[in-house]
Amino acid sequence: MDDRPMNIQWFPGHMAKARRMMAENVKLVDIVCEIIDARIPISSSNPDIPKIIGTKPRLLILNRIDLADPGVTRQWRAYFKKRAIPVLETDAKSGRGVSGFSAAVREIMKEKLQKYAAKGIATKVLRAMVVGIPNVGKSTFINKVAKRKAAAASDRPGVTRGKQWITVDRSLELLDTPGLLWPKLEGPETGVNLAFTGAVKDDVIDIQELAARLMQRLSQDYPELLAERYKLEIPENATGYQLLEMAAGKRGFLISGGQVDTLRMSAILLDEFRGGKIGRISLEKPGDYDA
Ligand code: G4P
Repeated sequence: MDDRPMNIQWFPGHMAKARRMMAENVKLVDIVCEIIDARIPISSSNPDIPKIIGTKPRLLILNRIDLADPGVTRQWRAYFKKRAIPVLETDAKSGRGVSGFSAAVREIMKEKLQKYAAKGIATKVLRAMVVGIPNVGKSTFINKVAKRKAAAASDRPGVTRGKQWITVDRSLELLDTPGLLWPKLEGPETGVNLAFTGAVKDDVIDIQELAARLMQRLSQDYPELLAERYKLEIPENATGYQLLEMAAGKRGFLISGGQVDTLRMSAILLDEFRGGKIGRISLEKPGDYDA
């Protein structure tokens, strides 16, 4: 496996603004819901979150379960359960799982709600906000909760607008503006995982290098799906780049001189992976971390 770090940037100025905005909004809510990508739950989460949200309770929203390997998602469920971390599994695009949002929040806030009830405040309306790294599904989730189609949220940190609250039900309101977290490039694979899923924009990375790495990863972890999608017979010890060439040949992608067009194939591979066309694939397993 090629583990040289990839050149992925997240500008400190953007980070400072995002952190400031988030700190302001966190004060307004009872609970913070961090959306992560079910295919890369660790790479798509931000380990600084306790520092950012303080002691506020947290709900993890494991999104894009429709694209993740169901067997691996089951392992993650057990992983989080063992650590007593509450998780809601969603496919924000279709809306699957989103209806469990309010109940999941109430379960976490049970004791606080009981205290309110004891004080005679039975009608306490809880307030929540969602946070997450770019492109993880924040706007889609908010729009599903609000039952509307068009995206209203913006990923640009520093964009100010009046605070809007979406009524989820009688006991819960959701802040319309998501909090933007910055990717945390800790392990050698984190940045690459984020780039595979499109959380980091392609214009800051070499897409052929990225696609070759994805090919290599898929040939190790999901060889059947890869072979099926690109009609490949995967040779032992084939490099990612060789597999890209083979797939480009099978698809008939040629450039002048009869060479295969690996650049075009790279864009297609990444696109098809991100859209779930190769199959349901998870790139991180709990076993990669401590079980
Ligand atoms: P963000 O606010 O966190 O930046 O993310 P956003 O909601 O804009 O979602 C980014 C992309 O991910 C969107 O695709 C959205 O449809 C897709 N998405 C979000 N949640 C899920 C999910 O659970 N499953 C799947 N399969 N996709 C999800 P897009 O291509 O940018 O837009 P669209 O053409 O799908 O509308």
